[in-house]
Amino acid sequence: MLDDLGSTSWHNRHYGPFARLNELLTEAGVARPSIMIVGPGGVSRWLAPLLNNSAADSSFVRKTIGDLARYSDQVLRRFPFVPLISLEPLEVRETMLMPHDLTVVDRSARLLEAVRRDIPEAITHVVDLGLDAPPARADVVIAFNIVSRLDDRAADGIQHLLTVLRSGGWLLIDDRSARAHLANHPRVTQVAPKTHRVDAAN
Ligand SMILES: C[S@@+](CC[C@H](N)C(=O)[O-])C[C@H]1O[C@@H](n2cnc3c(N)ncnc32)[C@H](O)[C@@H]1O
Repeated sequence: MLDDLGSTSWHNRHYGPFARLNELLTEAGVARPSIMIVGPGGVSRWLAPLLNNSAADSSFVRKTIGDLARYSDQVLRRFPFVPLISLEPLEVRETMLMPHDLTVVDRSARLLEAVRRDIPEAITHVVDLGLDAPPARADVVIAFNIVSRLDDRAADGIQHLLTVLRSGGWLLIDDRSARAHLANHPRVTQVAPKTHRVDAAN
């Protein structure tokens, strides 16, 4: 049986928002933020070194190799015996320069096992975001390219993410999900590209 697992597709896909988040947390003086990543995606550990990297300049040939690896990964990662790596948690770990606590949430237990292999101290929860809120609170929630995939449960998914966030917390989310669910939201203000603050005035 094949695993219908979503992917990050390349290295440093969200590097810009992560770097800005590090600045925002530093400016705000949050001593040890709790950061929750929801739906980080995974790729085959075997092909990961060949994937493109949006934080690096690459030649045409290198980019072509990266594209071929991406297409191959779309098939390979679906076989349950193939070892996975989840890039987003590792990139958040690397980009946040202050001590922080990391929680990772996904509906895929296989993906979360790969996260714990690389980041043993990460707390993980198997949760279907369309059905339930993650069982923890956080100063930051990162949820790229998941809400827009929840179809008729997307509004519930956004509500579950907002439930997790502490007052004044930051929500990093893709533009498509933000446009559909956060425009004119009474509790949410956009403070940077793909970055929103919840109840910022309180
Ligand atoms: C398309 S990937 C997004 C990967 C990464 N965040 C990105 O922006 O490239 C979707 C991720 O959300 C997870 N996911 C999909 N539906 C979910 C649900 N209902 N509840 C929890 N996780 C879900 C998938 O397992 C996968 O890790």
